[in-house]
Amino acid sequence: MESLERATEKASPPLRRRLNLRRPWCIALLVAAAIVVILAIVIPCAIILPKKHSHSGKASKVLYPIYIYPETNSTWDPLYKAISTHPELDFVIIVNPSSGPGSSPPDTQYQVAVNRLSSYSNVQKVGYVPTEYATRNISAVLDDVATYANWTSESTSLSMDGIFFDEIPYDWNSTKSEYLIRINEAVKNSSGIHSPHLVIHNPGTIPDARYDQNTTDITVVFEQSYDYYETQVTALDALGTKNRTEYSYMLHSVPTMTNSSLKSLVDDISYRAEYLFVTTLNSSYYEQFDSHLEQFCDVVPTSSK
Ligand SMILES: *[C@@H]1O[C@H](CO)[C@@H](O)[C@H](O)[C@H]1NC(C)=O
Ligand SMILES: *[C@@H]1O[C@H](CO)[C@@H](O)[C@H](O)[C@H]1NC(C)=O
Ligand SMILES: *[C@@H]1O[C@H](CO)[C@@H](O)[C@H](O)[C@H]1NC(C)=O
Ligand SMILES: *[C@@H]1O[C@H](CO)[C@@H](O)[C@H](O)[C@H]1NC(C)=O
Ligand SMILES: *[C@@H]1O[C@H](CO)[C@@H](O)[C@H](O)[C@H]1NC(C)=O
Ligand SMILES: *[C@@H]1O[C@H](CO)[C@@H](O)[C@H](O)[C@H]1NC(C)=O
Ligand SMILES: *[C@@H]1O[C@H](CO)[C@@H](O)[C@H](O)[C@H]1NC(C)=O
Ligand SMILES: *[C@@H]1O[C@H](CO)[C@@H](O)[C@H](O)[C@H]1NC(C)=O
Ligand SMILES: *[C@@H]1O[C@H](CO)[C@@H](O)[C@H](O)[C@H]1NC(C)=O
Repeated sequence: MESLERATEKASPPLRRRLNLRRPWCIALLVAAAIVVILAIVIPCAIILPKKHSHSGKASKVLYPIYIYPETNSTWDPLYKAISTHPELDFVIIVNPSSGPGSSPPDTQYQVAVNRLSSYSNVQKVGYVPTEYATRNISAVLDDVATYANWTSESTSLSMDGIFFDEIPYDWNSTKSEYLIRINEAVKNSSGIHSPHLVIHNPGTIPDARYDQNTTDITVVFEQSYDYYETQVTALDALGTKNRTEYSYMLHSVPTMTNSSLKSLVDDISYRAEYLFVTTLNSSYYEQFDSHLEQFCDVVPTSSK
């Protein structure tokens, strides 16, 4: 797990250089030598340290499920705070009024909350739609997509940027494959969903490769506990790092850690997936706020850190 980090540490060249002064009476030479020593230390430090820092993880985003009813205007404050204190970090927020969109337009409290999300330039919103492992009546799924899309008629600040399809099958079945192609198409076709019409699938594990579709933008290939993650690292590594921009990892029941241990964990995952969610909660992970949300957001690598 830590091999990547260790490798970058090993790559650091020695910073110390020795100088042999044969003529200590020569002040000019001494000054020149001092300058050489300083340059020998400062230049490698200036070049190596920032590089080493940015190489400790790959720029990533947060995929944040908020399945909490915005009872008051301040219910979502922990999320607003995480978004506004991390302007360099992008968030994809999963909006879920009622295990799906509920009504169109959504109720007043949801309108206030979704409008607020739209006020941040580092936020994209996706609507939650369950598929019951592709056994749910497809008309109901397409209706849910259409309901989110119709929020746009009330106000463009209520528009979703895509759909998060939950309960996606991972084992191959050609009928289910056609079902998934169709629901993806509905999102890509919809004018009420804003560009880029993000399609996210959540099988929670690595799906059969035959499900690979160029209309699926992101697949959650891991949605499990930290303990289980530790047993699955080899299988997950097999996906490689090349397609990390198409993958998401969601880890729950993560033990409370020091900032540097959490950073190591998140850096490690970031090599394999661009969309990350890590919580210390061990139940109702998405229905309550984790008191470690700030700590997590602080360690997610971005292009600026
Ligand atoms: C909640 O926010 C909305 C929109 O900003 C505002 O109109 C409303 O008065 C606020 N409600 C309360 C109780 O502050
Ligand atoms: C699916 O829903 C549609 C529309 O509500 C209905 O006409 C159809 O009979 C349903 N299909 C099944 C298999 O239940
Ligand atoms: C679509 O949105 C408009 C404006 O909010 C609303 O009046 C209408 O009832 C909605 N249509 C459906 C089918 O939900
Ligand atoms: C594939 O899925 C369909 C629809 O869910 C189901 O009716 C069928 O039995 C499945 N086929 C296999 C081989 O499991
Ligand atoms: C999407 O649009 C294409 C081309 O306009 C159309 O053939 C297809 O039926 C649409 N699919 C859905 C699910 O709306
Ligand atoms: C997706 O793949 C299909 C063929 O499988 C191709 O026709 C289509 O152009 C591709 N779309 C994109 C956006 O790459
Ligand atoms: C990465 O994605 C490309 C195109 O989507 C696919 O052809 C390739 O097999 C994938 N690589 C791996 C290791 O999954
Ligand atoms: C779940 O988290 C709570 C609160 O942090 C803790 O008291 C409890 O021991 C945890 N349960 C398990 C099974 O780890
Ligand atoms: C760890 O991070 C938290 C928030 O991200 C910060 O408040 C705290 O000071 C950090 N602790 C140390 C020891 O750096």
